[in-house]
Amino acid sequence: MPASPEEKGFGQGDPALARWAEKVFQPEDEVLREIRERSVREGLPAIAVGKFDGLHLEVIARAIGAAKCVEIGTLGGYSGVCLLRAMGEKGVLHTFELSEKHAQVARESFRKAGFAKRAHLHVGPALQMLREIEGEAPFDLVFVDADKGSYPAYLAWAAKHLRERGVILADNAFGFGEIHRADASPEIKALAKFNEELARGGRFRTTMIPTAEGLAMGVKIR
Ligand SMILES: C[S@@+](CC[C@H](N)C(=O)[O-])C[C@H]1O[C@@H](n2cnc3c(N)ncnc32)[C@H](O)[C@@H]1O
Repeated sequence: MPASPEEKGFGQGDPALARWAEKVFQPEDEVLREIRERSVREGLPAIAVGKFDGLHLEVIARAIGAAKCVEIGTLGGYSGVCLLRAMGEKGVLHTFELSEKHAQVARESFRKAGFAKRAHLHVGPALQMLREIEGEAPFDLVFVDADKGSYPAYLAWAAKHLRERGVILADNAFGFGEIHRADASPEIKALAKFNEELARGGRFRTTMIPTAEGLAMGVKIR
């Protein structure tokens, strides 16, 4: 499987523009930087969302007044903290993670960021575990960032359990630069299927935010 770039570039390929954007918009504060660094120190792969991706999540969740978010793929809690920051004091995040080791790091991240009570971490395969929260639907936002082969199934779940005008966001939607290739791996082909169903399935009005990894976005219209 191809990999994410080490530096999730922002700024149309121009490092000076990227530095300028970071200086002005300051996408990563001390809390997030600590999570990114501690996650790597604890042996987690360096595959958290990029700095601006985290800021996109927070701003989009704020814009829709999200109070109930679902995240599939927790890792060390970086993007989860971005989503929790967007929600008011009653806001709740259900976040799903396969690895207990990753979950342990994320618990510490949520605790340090002051979100221990509002971050509900579910450990196990997300597709099965999502059933546990269906009674709390409809949700405001679903962020998909886990096993690529299951993206179409996560989309089907989101279409069913998001409120109208609820938002789905999915990272790695460019399939690590291989989304358009006919000879792509089964995982990348699943990502392509996800994009096609999201864009043309009729349930969402959609766009692609052209981040380094491609952040697909859809608002539920029916
Ligand atoms: C790219 S990382 C998530 C990064 C995180 N969203 C962030 O930006 O901070 C993907 C995570 O999904 C988890 N994962 C993989 N397959 C999964 C599954 N079937 N169910 C739940 N989590 C899964 C991996 O263990 C990994 O921690």
